[in-house]
Amino acid sequence: MRRPTIAGDTFNCRAARAKLPSLAARAKVRRSSRSAIRYLYAIENRQFNQFSSLPGGCIDQSLAQQETDMTTTAIIGLGNMGKGIAKRFAGKTKLVLASRDQDATRAFAATLPAGPEVLDIPAAVAQADVIVLALPFAAAKDFVLEHQLAGKILVDISNPITPDFSGLTIGHTTSAAEELQSAAPAARVVKAFNTIFASLFDLPAAATVATPVFLAGNDEAAVAAVEQLVAAAGFAVEKTGTLDAARLLEPLGMLNIRFGYGLGKGTSIAPAWQTL
Ligand SMILES: NC(=O)c1ccc[n+]([C@@H]2O[C@H](COP(=O)([O-])OP(=O)(O)OC[C@H]3O[C@@H](n4cnc5c(N)ncnc54)[C@H](OP(=O)(O)O)[C@@H]3O)[C@@H](O)[C@H]2O)c1
Repeated sequence: MRRPTIAGDTFNCRAARAKLPSLAARAKVRRSSRSAIRYLYAIENRQFNQFSSLPGGCIDQSLAQQETDMTTTAIIGLGNMGKGIAKRFAGKTKLVLASRDQDATRAFAATLPAGPEVLDIPAAVAQADVIVLALPFAAAKDFVLEHQLAGKILVDISNPITPDFSGLTIGHTTSAAEELQSAAPAARVVKAFNTIFASLFDLPAAATVATPVFLAGNDEAAVAAVEQLVAAAGFAVEKTGTLDAARLLEPLGMLNIRFGYGLGKGTSIAPAWQTL
C-alpha cells in the first residue's frame, strides 16, 4: 500500500484520505459479509489515522476512537520483542499484555501510554482478535496446541534458530509460520516482524517509518489487519504473499542476525528492498 506523501510542514487530511486504496471496495467484491466490509472500512480509517498523527498532520479523534474500539490485540510474552512491539502498539489498538510473570508485566504496562490491560494468558487469548506470539518458536508451538484459536489472527514473529544462533532448525519445505498454521488450522497466521531486531522498537517512529516489516499470510483480511497495526506502529509494510513466503523470510531473519552479530554490524541493521 502506498503512503500518502507529506509535503513540507502541512499535511492535507482530505487529500491523504482520497489517496487511500479502498479496502472496503475490494472487500465488497471478495466478501459478502456486511460485518467484514464494516471491519475493513474501520481498518481503512485506521490507516488514515496513522498518517494523520505524523508531525504536521491533523488528528481525527472520532476515527482514532473507532479504531481502538475495533480490535483487541494481545501480546503474549514480554521479552525483548514483546516489550518492543507493545511500546509501538500502545495507544494504536486496544492492547492486552500477558506473560508468565504478571507482576513484571503490570510494572511494564504502567510505563506505557493508554494503560494496556494485563491479563493471564488464557484470558488474553479469549479477549483478543489479534494475538502476537512474542515467544521462542518452541514455546509458540506449545501455545498453539494449548489454546482455542479458531478465527483469531495469530502473528508469528519467530525465527526458529538453533540454541547457538548459528542456523535455523527448519526450512526449505516448511517454516515456523506454516508449522504453527498446521498445528492450529482454524487460526489465521500472519508472519511479521521476524527480520528486524528488537532494538529498533526503541527508536523514534520517524526513524523506522521506511523500514520494511515483511508480512506473509494466507488470509487476506488477516494480513490487512496486521498491515494496519504494523503501519500504525511506525514501520513500512512489505507484503510477500502467502504463508509459504515465511520459508524465505525466516532465512532472511537469520541473515540479519548474522549481519548484526556474526559480522559485527550491530542490531540497528534491517533488510530492505530497492527498485532500481
Ligand atoms: N530479539 C530479536 O531481536 C528478535 C528479532 C526478530 C524475531 N525475534 C523472535 O521473537 C521471538 C521472541 O524473541 P525475544 O528476543 O523477545 O526473546 P526473549 O527476550 O527471550 O523473550 C521471550 C519471552 O517468551 C517467554 N516465554 C518463553 N517460553 C515461554 C512459555 N513456554 N510460555 C510463556 N512464555 C514463554 C519468556 O518468558 P519468561 O520471561 O517468563 O521466561 C520471555 O518473556 C523469538 O521467536 C525470536 O526468534 C527476535
